[in-house]
Amino acid sequence: MSEKAELKIDGKIIELPVITGSENEKAIDISALRASSGYITLDPGFKNTGSTSSGITFLDGEKGILRYRGYSIEELAEKATFLEVSYLLIYGELPNKATLESYRKEITHHTLIHEDIKNILEGFPSNSHPMGVLSSLVSSLTAFYPESLDPNRSAAEVDLSIKRLIAKMPTMAAWAYKNEIGHPANYPDNKLDYCSNFLKMMFAVPSEEYEVDPVIANALDKLLILHADHEQNCSTATVRVVGSSHASLYASIAAGISALWGPLHGGANQAVIEMLEAIKADGGDVNKYMAKAKDKNDPFRLMGFGHRVYKNFDPRAKIIKKAADDVLEKLGINDPVLEIAKGLEEVALKDPYFVERKLYPNVDFYSGIIYRAIGIPTSMFTVMFALGRLPGWIAQWKEMRENKEPIGRPRQVYTGNNHRPFQEVDNR
Ligand code: CMC
Repeated sequence: MSEKAELKIDGKIIELPVITGSENEKAIDISALRASSGYITLDPGFKNTGSTSSGITFLDGEKGILRYRGYSIEELAEKATFLEVSYLLIYGELPNKATLESYRKEITHHTLIHEDIKNILEGFPSNSHPMGVLSSLVSSLTAFYPESLDPNRSAAEVDLSIKRLIAKMPTMAAWAYKNEIGHPANYPDNKLDYCSNFLKMMFAVPSEEYEVDPVIANALDKLLILHADHEQNCSTATVRVVGSSHASLYASIAAGISALWGPLHGGANQAVIEMLEAIKADGGDVNKYMAKAKDKNDPFRLMGFGHRVYKNFDPRAKIIKKAADDVLEKLGINDPVLEIAKGLEEVALKDPYFVERKLYPNVDFYSGIIYRAIGIPTSMFTVMFALGRLPGWIAQWKEMRENKEPIGRPRQVYTGNNHRPFQEVDNR
């Protein structure tokens, strides 16, 4: 017999189905509650609300587990490439050699973007934040590929839109950066792998030789894998909700990029480095900033600490901390900010305020230090997160479409005025 939960309201018992996930997580299905009782559930920030059943990413915040399609993040970060992981997330299985090769070829084939996109880019002032530019350019793809507007077209056409986006995103991201610094854009080099091509578009300047450093390309590849999906986070939930109205893939992803931008989400990586720099400029006293973070009258938060779901440790942060040490050592860089970050972590992990609230370093605490070491400017940190998260967003959008999920439309408890008569302006 299937499990049920009972809810007693106004003396009446309502039976609610219990759903069990493949890792034995339990959920009470309240979708019919309003129809049977007139009640809705209230959960600001969706802290306890499942919005979907998903087969893509498994996360256990208490045990610090993260898996994509059943594969642990530790193994994927060590053994796979970002392109392989993107295939795994979107299509559900790891590709064999031949499939991976044809996938790679297809992605490489679509890296170029329409010359008219340059006109759009030129319309932005230089100094524009690249996240805003990236979101706009992704949205603009709807104009260049109008067939992408209708997500109900054939699976092959939707697949083409997906591959175009994966291929073009590095080009658009690098061009957003070139616009920010007022330099000419570089065209993709299809002889290079995904990350090396991106690095070349970012850093090559006319009339100078540019050789991609494999240490840097590998570090970037690993970072992108670690960011590739994270189940129903703010930006992914946004992508699914926007897509649930049958908006196009490109419109949905552009919305996801905007959601990612905020400092409580993907924007945290930029905020962390700015915070560490500020601490350094202020004499490096980590205890002073710990006190600020704990002071409820001070809006300061320790950026890169805490997570909605991880309440033990963030497995991505563990991998990134080690990778930061490795990359800095291999590149022969001594970044004083890394020492400040380690000092802050050490103090925070022993501090009762942080221990009681289960606040640990998250993925963004050390990622900025690697980005900086490999030459990525601070304003591009969140763009890097977006590049990494892209396959996750696409996989979740695709799953939502294939599940034929209904339009996302939460309810509310109204707390405003009751009905009152309108008064003509002279009588107010
Ligand atoms: N510094 C100081 N106090 C904190 C912090 C922090 N970084 N994070 C949470 N708290 C406190 C918070 O004030 C609250 O205290 P109290 O119970 O006394 O009111 C308690 O911890 C719970 O915090 P919350 O804001 O209710 O938790 P949440 O699940 O709504 O927020 C969070 C999660 C990530 C938004 C939050 O921890 C935060 O703002 N962290 C800093 C920003 C950050 O690093 N974001 C990146 C997240 S990882 C990348 C990603 O996937 O987006």
